[in-house]
Amino acid sequence: MTYVELTKKDGFVLLTINRPEALNALNEQVLDDLDEALGMIDEDTRCLVVTGAGTKAFVAGADISVMRTQDRTEAKRFGKKGSEVFRKLEMLPIPVIAAVNGFALGGGFELALACDIRIASQNASFAFPEVTLGITPGFGGTQRIVRLVGPGAGKELLYTARRVKSEEALRLGIVNRVVPQETLLDEVFAMAASIAKNAPIAVRAAKRSVNTGVLCGMDEALAIELENYSNCYETQDQVNAMTAFVSKQEPKPFENK
Ligand code: CAA
Repeated sequence: MTYVELTKKDGFVLLTINRPEALNALNEQVLDDLDEALGMIDEDTRCLVVTGAGTKAFVAGADISVMRTQDRTEAKRFGKKGSEVFRKLEMLPIPVIAAVNGFALGGGFELALACDIRIASQNASFAFPEVTLGITPGFGGTQRIVRLVGPGAGKELLYTARRVKSEEALRLGIVNRVVPQETLLDEVFAMAASIAKNAPIAVRAAKRSVNTGVLCGMDEALAIELENYSNCYETQDQVNAMTAFVSKQEPKPFENK
């Protein structure tokens, strides 16, 4: 892969979009590499961290020099590719944390929105500049932002292209936490490690319940939760963890069984 690096850590994987000379802008190759990298996440991985190379940008959007010459047919194909890759990321069975280390603009904001959790550095900023370029977001941004912050706040960001700094992003609920840039990866790694030590079957079930349930009415959503909840029973990890608790023993590490 030319523009995406995968680094295996203890129980989780770090995925870095690595095109700093263009502030990690998403061209076809970056999207293809991202797609390939997501396909390489194996069953043992318990959490994924996504970040951008360098200290300036997470991802500064889709590549404008590529989009500039596209006609409608090409734009549709490019949009479909970005949209499908981001959906693949969103639908990974494991939690995904975006470590937003700088500009998250356009497609970069959309990439962060496709992750489960966003932690931002103090210098991070978020915007949808698309309407200043004569287009709309095309990689899922219009749909994910309004589901995250509600239609009122989301539409304001989409229509004005206003750039939101990390502290405001925290207030709006776009990010979970804001930390100094120097400690961003350490803090995100600590969160990834704390997820990785929990029962993998249960963590995945929780993600499935949220991702599926959020799109349904309450009764259907509760039925989905009930299925995912009850399916955790009779797993070795559930039996061992509850047995350890009631017998006041140190719990064994979870085995994903
Ligand atoms: N596409 C292509 N190249 C980009 C880029 C992008 N989205 N963002 C930055 N770059 C390139 C610049 O062209 C520049 O390259 P050169 O050194 O070869 O000139 C390099 O990255 C560094 O960028 P700047 O010199 O512009 O850095 P800066 O600090 O002055 O400004 C910035 C930083 C404010 C992020 C500015 O680069 C910028 O506004 N970038 C574009 C942001 C944007 O509009 N993104 C949305 C794209 S639309 C989209 O994403 C559509 C979609 O949903 C499908």
